[in-house]
Amino acid sequence: MLPRFTFASAENPTAGFSTPVSRVFLEIGFGGGEHAATQSEMNPDVGYIASEVFENGLCSLMSRLVPEGQDETAEPPPHFRIWPEDARQLLKDMPDNCLNRAYLMFPDPWPKSRHAKRRFIHPENLKEVHRVLKPGAIWRVASDHPVYQEWVTEVMGKQDLFDAPPPETERPEGWSPTRYEAKAFREGRQPFYWTFTRRP
Ligand SMILES: C[S@@+](CC[C@H](N)C(=O)[O-])C[C@H]1O[C@@H](n2cnc3c(N)ncnc32)[C@H](O)[C@@H]1O
Repeated sequence: MLPRFTFASAENPTAGFSTPVSRVFLEIGFGGGEHAATQSEMNPDVGYIASEVFENGLCSLMSRLVPEGQDETAEPPPHFRIWPEDARQLLKDMPDNCLNRAYLMFPDPWPKSRHAKRRFIHPENLKEVHRVLKPGAIWRVASDHPVYQEWVTEVMGKQDLFDAPPPETERPEGWSPTRYEAKAFREGRQPFYWTFTRRP
């Protein structure tokens, strides 16, 4: 089923859906897909691209989207597509100023400093996210990991591509819960919620 649901229009993102869309959002690492499904439902005019590399996550989202017994015939929601590969490749293939919003919800923290290069919030990726977002577009980022929280503060403090005010500690209105956020609450960790704005 996945090929029918896969986003295949990196060069012209608004054309990648089976209905006209006025805006395009990208979620990086959707995990179980609950946040992607909710945010897409909340924004019916938006073409939503949900990316994930983890097979179990892809299966979990597909089972949410495809009713039992309809594997052969099911079509993706008209304004929703999946990118089942590394989001960084998709970013590279996209034109400048094509996205209206990006989400990075509870990215893998890679807490050991020798793995810091694998963290998604990284100067190289910031350049790419800045390039594909439209000026003034929002990038929502959340993390519950103290090492990552400190890292985001440090990296965003040294860059000038985004306005990066301090994070909220309550989930802001219009955001939706995720599986990793629920895990953080269960295990007593305090999530941080950042809203970055792409500078011109
Ligand atoms: C800690 S989980 C969080 C999942 C979900 N956002 C949540 O909050 O429940 C991070 C996810 O990002 C995915 N991921 C990591 N790097 C990625 C990349 N470059 N492209 C797409 N997905 C990625 C991982 O496979 C993993 O499922």
